[in-house]
Amino acid sequence: MSRLIVVSNRTPGKGPAAGGLAIALRKTLAEREGFWFGWSGRLVDQPDREARFEDIDGLSVAQIDLTRDDHHDYYAGFSNSILWPSFHLRLDLATIEAHWYEGYRRVNVQFARALLPLLKPDDVIWVHDYHLMPLASELRNLGARNRIGFYLHIPFPTSDALYAIPHHNDLMRDLSRYDLVGMQAKRDVAAFTEFADHQSPSSLSGNPLKSVDFSRTEVDSFPIGSDPDAFARLSVSPAATKMVKRMERVLREQKLILGVDRLDYSKGLPQRVEAYEKLLANNSRFRRQVHMLQVAPPSRDTIKEYQETSDALDAMCGRVMGRFAEPDWQPLTYVKRAYGQPSLAGLYRLAKVALVTPLRDGMNLVAHEYVGSQNPADPGVLVLSRFAGAAEIFDGAIEVNPFDTDETAEALRIALDMPLDERIDRWTRLMHAAREHNVDAWAARFLERLAPATTAGSGTRDI
Ligand code: F6P
Repeated sequence: MSRLIVVSNRTPGKGPAAGGLAIALRKTLAEREGFWFGWSGRLVDQPDREARFEDIDGLSVAQIDLTRDDHHDYYAGFSNSILWPSFHLRLDLATIEAHWYEGYRRVNVQFARALLPLLKPDDVIWVHDYHLMPLASELRNLGARNRIGFYLHIPFPTSDALYAIPHHNDLMRDLSRYDLVGMQAKRDVAAFTEFADHQSPSSLSGNPLKSVDFSRTEVDSFPIGSDPDAFARLSVSPAATKMVKRMERVLREQKLILGVDRLDYSKGLPQRVEAYEKLLANNSRFRRQVHMLQVAPPSRDTIKEYQETSDALDAMCGRVMGRFAEPDWQPLTYVKRAYGQPSLAGLYRLAKVALVTPLRDGMNLVAHEYVGSQNPADPGVLVLSRFAGAAEIFDGAIEVNPFDTDETAEALRIALDMPLDERIDRWTRLMHAAREHNVDAWAARFLERLAPATTAGSGTRDI
């Protein structure tokens, strides 16, 4: 079997980005004697352009350093101030500085130049996420003829939003140089297809864009998952139980409503707290009976829009506290820090309701982890945004429009009042879906399609 090379911005052990992915791909990488390639996390004045190998918990990882300026323009600039907001349909939060694109390409060229000498002709390369859309182009420009796949972890934008991105046509041409492009959800493939159809030469009259030829690129949805059975085990582990006991002392008999999200404007955190406020305002019987915990580790906090989201959430939480707190009762707790998986699994198991209400999200693995962590005899309820990729597979959730805080407040009431038999029925369906779409199945499906001998299967759309 050919070697597998995984490429992502962050490498395992270097931050949250590669966490779940690393666990999922560790076994496959070991079996296929491959390695992981990415940024080292180091910013230096004069980077060595050759990659350095490191063993990280038995995983072979090759990394390069970047300069502070290159990293800024590529990561905080083009990737997270232009691509991220646009792909999440928040053009109002995009900041466009023309020179960031050069930094973005420069870093992709550096990745390609450092990776190329490490490749064997039959290596299969799997590139992850929006930071690295041009990587296949840059590798091919240097002569690589390997099978190269790309997986987008975030939603694919509508054509209108895509057109607002500087150099979008070049980026789409970059995608056309992959053999396989994987997306989270069918909705994303549909958006991609709409763009690609408008690129066909016949529809170009009056269209200033040049056509992009997608005829050699296979595009399909591959919904990512977690390992729900691992979360089931973790949720009753000693570390999880310790967290449960800590929380139970504070909660006493109150029902826990839980949110766990990076502090990102795409997660709809202020709207979520407003929905909780409406629950308490419309249903006084829940006061003193419920408690909301929002875990929100800071993310990309050098970017102004992230700081503003953090401020907005501070203000919203303060408002709810001021309105409903009593000297001996707090309606909510808000923690801006990250917790390890065992503690989270404990919190998930304790929570009667998980509020997973992003305004737009690729998949949302918190939904999967929450489902995996439930007690089958007394499971909690998942309230899920219809704009998360997870909504395509989780029909046992209560689905909400996160922009409609009245609807979310009502969903919360329904979840808190839901009888045990309905909770078990919904959770059984959710767990079935979480298992069917677990992270191993996801990786196997993608890699099978990317394998050299693969022929396109039924249901595939070659664009
Ligand atoms: O959801 C996309 C993603 O890049 C994830 O892969 C990652 O966990 C998250 O965003 C955090 O990203 P960053 O590397 O910017 O902290």
